[in-house]
Amino acid sequence: MVRLPFIAGNWKMNKTVREAVDLVKELKATLSGVKGVEVAVAPPFTALDAVRREIEGSSILLAAQNVYWEEKGAFTGEISSLMLKEVGCHYVIIGHSERRQFFGETDETVSRRIKTALTQGLKVMFCIGETLKEREEGKTFSVIERQVEVGLKGLGPQELRGITVAYEPVWAIGTGKTATPDQAEEVHRYVRGKLEGLYSKIISEEIRIQYGGSVTPENIKGLMAQPNIDGALVGGASLKAESFSKIVRFREL
Ligand code: PGA
Repeated sequence: MVRLPFIAGNWKMNKTVREAVDLVKELKATLSGVKGVEVAVAPPFTALDAVRREIEGSSILLAAQNVYWEEKGAFTGEISSLMLKEVGCHYVIIGHSERRQFFGETDETVSRRIKTALTQGLKVMFCIGETLKEREEGKTFSVIERQVEVGLKGLGPQELRGITVAYEPVWAIGTGKTATPDQAEEVHRYVRGKLEGLYSKIISEEIRIQYGGSVTPENIKGLMAQPNIDGALVGGASLKAESFSKIVRFREL
């Protein structure tokens, strides 16, 4: 099964509208002609519209960093799937560890967000990953198992096709401490096995699993060489066109 590699940039709470437009202009230039890889950028909400205008006609896809599960109403500060679709989003990141850590997201709220986003026609980057403490206590696989089971609860095989899993060990995010290719592959293989158990071999082979956590142009190649690593969710290194395009062009490194 050949899975198209998928590299996405998570800009987090960075970039004013002007900075976002400048970055994406540069990306359009540095990424022109790249083939055989899907690329998405996730600017902050305020820059989505401006970035969408800039990437129109290019192969860069737009992603949002979060979404609420209700369609509209009295939910101050939240954004719905419908709103994200309207502004041109193709993808949405759900369940990022920073959302879980700082904003009280749980496996249950992650699951509700995923369900509505898919129903509304968005594709989802579903983030999972263990903390350092959990890893040190030998709980990595049980944490991943719970996150996958609860997060994807109630999704049928057709809905699952709208999901990309992003394995992001919390201890590797923004720390400069990447998981080794072997460490990442071990969890990716486990996730694929879990998907096979929950769905089927065919579906588990179709689903892409990105790695995230201090991905750089220096380590991307080793990660991508692993059979179950199908792409990357890039934070820090996605804020500069030079490093992000090198990561996207990992085959040329
Ligand atoms: P990082 O972030 O690349 O800065 O470690 C990755 C992420 O949080 O998605």
